[in-house]
Amino acid sequence: MSVCRGPDCRRNGAERVLVAAREALQGQGMEAKCVLARGGCYGLCHLGPNVVVREERERPRDVFAQEDFQLMGWPDEVHYGEMTAEKVTRVIAEHIGADAPVQSLRGARED
Ligand code: FES
Repeated sequence: MSVCRGPDCRRNGAERVLVAAREALQGQGMEAKCVLARGGCYGLCHLGPNVVVREERERPRDVFAQEDFQLMGWPDEVHYGEMTAEKVTRVIAEHIGADAPVQSLRGARED
């Protein structure tokens, strides 16, 4: 799970989302199941704070990885827009905890 670290998302509350995500993962005992990362600007600033969830891939991480800066359209990729602490807590419980993406919170771009 990546929380955008771009300036617009930070201005709109990404830090609170990141803290809530960390607390939820710890509180729900899912730290081993989900790596929490900070993504770059996805170019979806008007939809932020943005969170992207993808399945872990068996390949080395590249610090300039495209996926840190844009949606890739991968089948397992889910973008959540306009995230709040409450919404990301729900995403962690349902998407990460129960493998059930929260359709009602998906980003507007996917509508
Ligand atoms: S600042 Fe988050 S998508 Fe641009």
